[in-house]
Amino acid sequence: MEIVESIESLQQQLAHARAAGKTIAFVPTMGFLHAGHLSLLEEGRRRGDVLVLSIFVNPTQFGQGEDFEDYPRDLQQDCALAEAVGVDLVFAPSSAAMYPRGYATEVNVSGITAGLCGASRPTHFRGVCTVVTKLFNIVQPHVALFGSKDFQQLAVVKRLTQDLNLPIEIIGMPIYREADGLAMSSRNVYLDSEQRRQSLALSQAITLAQDLVKQGEGEVATVIAAVSRHLGAQSLIRSDYVAICHQLTLEPQQRIDKDSVLLIAAFVGQTRLIDNGYLMDLS
Ligand code: PAJ
Repeated sequence: MEIVESIESLQQQLAHARAAGKTIAFVPTMGFLHAGHLSLLEEGRRRGDVLVLSIFVNPTQFGQGEDFEDYPRDLQQDCALAEAVGVDLVFAPSSAAMYPRGYATEVNVSGITAGLCGASRPTHFRGVCTVVTKLFNIVQPHVALFGSKDFQQLAVVKRLTQDLNLPIEIIGMPIYREADGLAMSSRNVYLDSEQRRQSLALSQAITLAQDLVKQGEGEVATVIAAVSRHLGAQSLIRSDYVAICHQLTLEPQQRIDKDSVLLIAAFVGQTRLIDNGYLMDLS
C-alpha cells in the first residue's frame, strides 16, 4: 500500500493503472476509520483491481462554529486499517493542495440539498459536492462507494454524477451499526457514557416506526409524532429534524409507501448524529 499526498503523483499512478485496463474503485472519507468505512472498502476491494481510499477532512463542508478543528484524526491508525483490508493507494492531500490560493470554484446541486441536513447546514452540501467533484476528477474511478448512513449525501452524489455526466458507478452501501444499534460514525467518540446510552434512541426510534408501519399505520404525521416522542423522552437529546421522505426525491410524504425513508438528525449534547431507515420491509 502506498500513501500519496501529491495530486500529481496520484494522477500519474492511476493513469498507468487505467492504461493497463485496470478498474479503479474509490472510497472517499474524512478518515478516523471505523467498521462502516471498512465495509465500503471491502466492497471496493471486490469491485476494483485498484482500490483507492481518500482521507481528507474537507474544510468547506463544515459551517461556522462546527467541529472542523475538533474532528478526530489519526492517519497512522487509518493507514494500518486500510492496509489490512487491501487498499492499494491512500490519497491524503493537504488543504493547501486541494484549495490553493486563488481557488474560486464551487459545485452546487439545488433541490434535494435544500431540506433535511441542507436546511440546518446551509453550506454543507456545496462543500461536499465541491470536494467530491474534485476527488472524482483527480481519481477518475470507475466505481465509487458511499454509505447510506448519510442518506441525503448519497442521493446528492448520485444526482451530481448524473447531472455532470460523470462516467462513475455510484454504489450505496448499507448502514453499519454497533451491536446495540447505534450507527457507526467518527463523531461517536465525542459521546460520554450517558450520551452514548441515550444516543440509542435514534436507532430505537427507527425500529419503533417500522413496527408501527408493520401494524398498519400509514399516516406520516402519526409516525413522526411517535418518533419525536421517543427522542424527546431522552433528556440529552434535542431533535434537529424527523422526516419521512421519498427515497429518490427526498420530498416529504403524507402517506407511507414502499419508497418511504425515515430520516433523523439529533443533537446528543453537542454532537449531531444522523440515522435513517426504510419504513417498509421490501423482502
Ligand atoms: P465520512 O463521514 O468519513 O464518511 C465516508 C463514507 O463512509 C461516506 O460515504 C459515509 O456515508 C460512509 N459511512 C460513514 N458511516 C457509515 C456507517 N455507519 N455505515 C456505512 N457507511 C458509513 O461522508 C464523508 O466522510 C464526507 O462527506 C465525504 C463524502 C468524504 C466528502 O468529504
